[in-house]
Amino acid sequence: MSVTIVPNVRSYEELTGGVGKEVFFRAPRVRARELFNLDTSFDSPSVVIGGKTCQLVNLSISGAAAIADEDDAAKFDVGNVVSFELRHAEAVLHHGEARIVRTEPVFRGIKVAVQLTDHPADLARLRQRYSEETVRRRVDAIVTTGADAVEAEYRVLCADVLFLLRTLKETLAIGTPIDPAAAEVFLRDCEERVWPTWSGFFLRGNDLLARARAQDGGAARMKAMTELLLTPEFLSAPIWRQTIQKPYGYPGDHVVMNHVYDALSEGETLYDKLMHRLGVRSLLLIQSRMRQIVEILKGKAALGPLEHPFRVLNLGCGAAREVSLFLKEGVPAQGALVTLLDQDSRALTLALEGAYREILGAGANGQVRCLLTTFAKLIEPGNLQQDVGAQDFIYSIGLLDYLTERRARALITALYGQLAPGGTLLVGNLRKCRESGEWCSEMICDWPMIFRTEDEMWRLASEIPTEAKRVFMEPLERVYLMQIEKPAH
Ligand SMILES: C[S@@+](CC[C@H](N)C(=O)[O-])C[C@H]1O[C@@H](n2cnc3c(N)ncnc32)[C@H](O)[C@@H]1O
Repeated sequence: MSVTIVPNVRSYEELTGGVGKEVFFRAPRVRARELFNLDTSFDSPSVVIGGKTCQLVNLSISGAAAIADEDDAAKFDVGNVVSFELRHAEAVLHHGEARIVRTEPVFRGIKVAVQLTDHPADLARLRQRYSEETVRRRVDAIVTTGADAVEAEYRVLCADVLFLLRTLKETLAIGTPIDPAAAEVFLRDCEERVWPTWSGFFLRGNDLLARARAQDGGAARMKAMTELLLTPEFLSAPIWRQTIQKPYGYPGDHVVMNHVYDALSEGETLYDKLMHRLGVRSLLLIQSRMRQIVEILKGKAALGPLEHPFRVLNLGCGAAREVSLFLKEGVPAQGALVTLLDQDSRALTLALEGAYREILGAGANGQVRCLLTTFAKLIEPGNLQQDVGAQDFIYSIGLLDYLTERRARALITALYGQLAPGGTLLVGNLRKCRESGEWCSEMICDWPMIFRTEDEMWRLASEIPTEAKRVFMEPLERVYLMQIEKPAH
């Protein structure tokens, strides 16, 4: 028998326990999404604190956090002991009392933290009861209303999508070209033939989704059916898999974006490759808006200021492909200082690699610094705003699409404040239109985003005290860009 020696065994003197805030150990909190394995909002449990229904954020054996409606803020007095219930529709999963220990405003309402005062929450049992209730609820929904709960026209659309995808899968399995170059030509040809039908599904899906939203629970029922019938057909293609499964815990990560920027025929089988190509083509607006931003950025950089490096800030930068292009082609003589902000270190690592390749390899006169943090820190007055300093060009694409009007307006106002005199702010948001990807992203991929009209874009800048604003579309007309200039004096 061999003995395995564990390397780096430490002495008791070297064992430190927690550091910083970790010293004050408390029962681990589990996010509601993980605890209940939530994949759709249809089945979310709710928490009722002092009679007010809130959205559960996390739970531990001794406490919970939830988001309450802003209008109920006055009802939660810190220190008060109130009733505490965890519910799944009509079923009560936990009933007891809790003390309100903290409240704080967050952008979706008021975050309320409570400590259970009478008996602990049994997480394993809650999870079990929750899944039993979910099954019961779903079976009830099927036997009482069945597929009729979703409009017949939508069921026809699902059948049409399935028919196309399964026909493609079966047909492409027959005629596999061996030579990669021949496969590429073949796939391009298939894509051209399929595209008109495919994009027609988007129009029908968007129209029907708009109708479903007008009915109470209509969109949720539509989504439940779509996820059951259509979503599995997409999973074998890389871009769809990444989009649907969200392995980094949030939608629209840099892997999805990079699939679009690279636009390759990725996947194992011809069917997977074709589906990947269709996914990329549906998202080409990402390439289009990025190219337009580079052009605007280069144009502004060429104008100055001349006395110091051109200062650029990019929020929610992802892999920042446009920064590499800017460093390659657009840095002015006085140089550039680019600040990249994202909450994901994997994205920042790629962004840095791309930027250094240009700075070191191609000799671009630029510097890059990264901030691994949330954009929210720039809204709050404080250290980060000072550290970042005044900027000549601030832009953000692919971030506003996730923010409510109130939050997006607060961000735009804060960013305008961060501009140096004469600086430019440029933000992008998906355009609400019949051709948009709304149905596909929300119903098939569980990737909800906020598509905005032109009026809604203007509203986001209503607090900005300048006339120098414009709202325009990128060439594919799927994204609105809003450009705001701060007066030089
Ligand atoms: C849809 S991607 C867009 C990336 C890039 N701008 C592009 O167009 O390729 C959204 C990016 O926002 C980042 N993000 C999401 N929430 C954020 C937050 N609270 N603070 C900062 N970045 C965030 C994500 O990590 C992701 O890289």
